[in-house]
This record gives sequence, structure tokens and C-alpha cells, in this order.
Amino acid sequence: MSDLQTFADMIGGAKRLVVLTGAGMSQESGIPTFRDALEGLWAQYDPMELATPDAFANNPKLVWDWYQFRREIVNKTTPNPGHYALVELEALLPQVIIITQNVDGFHQLVGSRDVICLHGNIQQDKCAGNCQGDPTIVDSSQLTWDDAPPLCPHCNRNYLRPNVVWFRELLPTAELERAQQVCLEADVMLVIGTSGVVYPAAQLPFLAYRSGAKVLEINPSRSTISEIAEIRVAGGSGEALPQVVKLIREKA
Ligand code: APR
Repeated sequence: MSDLQTFADMIGGAKRLVVLTGAGMSQESGIPTFRDALEGLWAQYDPMELATPDAFANNPKLVWDWYQFRREIVNKTTPNPGHYALVELEALLPQVIIITQNVDGFHQLVGSRDVICLHGNIQQDKCAGNCQGDPTIVDSSQLTWDDAPPLCPHCNRNYLRPNVVWFRELLPTAELERAQQVCLEADVMLVIGTSGVVYPAAQLPFLAYRSGAKVLEINPSRSTISEIAEIRVAGGSGEALPQVVKLIREKA
């Protein structure tokens, strides 16, 4: 039996499947992974040094412009067959819960019903001071800006910033707690396209593993998760996931 068939059988037999996705999930949509070199204008910057509260405090316009650039990339791209395959899985299994580190919103866009967003949503902006509560989401589509990000229309004091979690920031509590809980309850955990170096997301597969779940991985390269993965499919998720779903369907 091929590894892919065994992989599909393990997913097909899951009662409570939890899927953790990272930037690799959207790589075949054309969104560069976070650690890929940036192109053009942004090549001189290290993303890890733009996505921090300090970077925003030091140079709000630079960080704001970078996120406008990233937002444009997301707007120009579309979900890939891997995202659709995860929706199809919902019809084949009793329970599928997706935990994503991605901010592109593609899982929700294609219709995945239970998505826990650990790192926010790049399409939204919020008041940098969360003046009306955490988060104070603001529709910026009618706002203009010049040499600084727009000011929050509620407090007129703080800048707007993207509703994403930056390095050194805490994850939203409710989302993180639910993610941990569903990992404890999972019988199979599928980890897709994450290098597993950003915590606390990277700790979730280990949580599931220690409470008895089988861990499976789709990633063309080894990650920190690979050591606990029963099988790693060494390929892109946009290609591998539709094949896995096809194999599950054939046995259903
Ligand atoms: N299919 C599956 N995996 C892929 C593909 C693909 N087509 N292409 C690349 N990968 C894998 C890479 O091998 C790598 O392991 O995706 C992973 C991407 O890793 P990172 O860029 O580190 O992204 P991620 O793990 O999601 O980063 C976590 O850190 O940068 C912050 O908030 C940001 O959500 C992000 C988080």
C-alpha cells in the first residue's frame, strides 16, 4: 500500500480531525510564504522586523504600506484546490476543525465552516489603541491617508493598523483556548504548510500528539512537526489534498 493511501485511510478514519494550516497552504495560490524573500520594493526588509509592535511604533507608515502591499497580493490571488479539498472533507468526516495561522481568509471564503483564526485577518483594520474594546474593528475603505496611517475615526487619536497578530503580541485568548481544547480532543491532526517555528501555534500538534492523536503532515520540506508526524507527504498541499480526498471518496 502506498504512503498516500495509508495517509488517506488515516484521515478517512478520523472521528475528530483537526487541521493546522500555515503559509504553505496558500503558497500555490501565489501568496509568498512569510519567510520567502520579498520581491521588488520590499526586498530590503525583513518581514520579521516589519510585523512587530516596535516596527509600527517606530515607523507606522512603513508598516501600514507593507500591509497594503500584502493585502493587494491577497486580493489578486484566489484559494487553491487544497482549500477546496478541505471543504470537501467536511462531507466525508464527522468533524473537521481548521486552525489557521494564515490571515488571508481563504478557508472561510471557500466555505470551511469551522475555522479558528489564530493570527487575525489581513482584510480588517483596527484601532491601534483598541479604543472601543479589543479588537476595535474599523472599516477603512472610505478613509484616506498620506504620510501616516489613517486615524481611528472613533478616538481620532490612534492610528489604524491591520487586525493581525504581530510577533511578540499575544494571540486572541478565546481562539487560542479553543484551539488548544480541540487539539486535546482530536484523534487525528493534519498539519499543512507550516515551518512550526512560531509559538504558540507550533505547540498545538505536540499537544494533540501527547494526548494520543495521530499526527500527519503535508509539507515539501521537513519542519519541526516532522519528528512526531506518522507520515509526511512531501509535496504541495494544492496537489496532495485533492488526491487524498479522492482516495477517501473511493473507499467511502
Ligand atoms: N504546500 C505545503 N507546504 C508548503 C508549500 C506548499 N505548496 N510551500 C511551502 N510550504 C511549507 C514550507 O516548507 C514551510 O515549512 O510551508 C511552510 C511555510 O513556513 P513559514 O513561512 O514559516 O509560515 P508559517 O509556519 O505559517 O509561519 C507562521 O509566522 O510569520 C508568522 O504570522 C506569520 O502566520 C505566520 C506564522
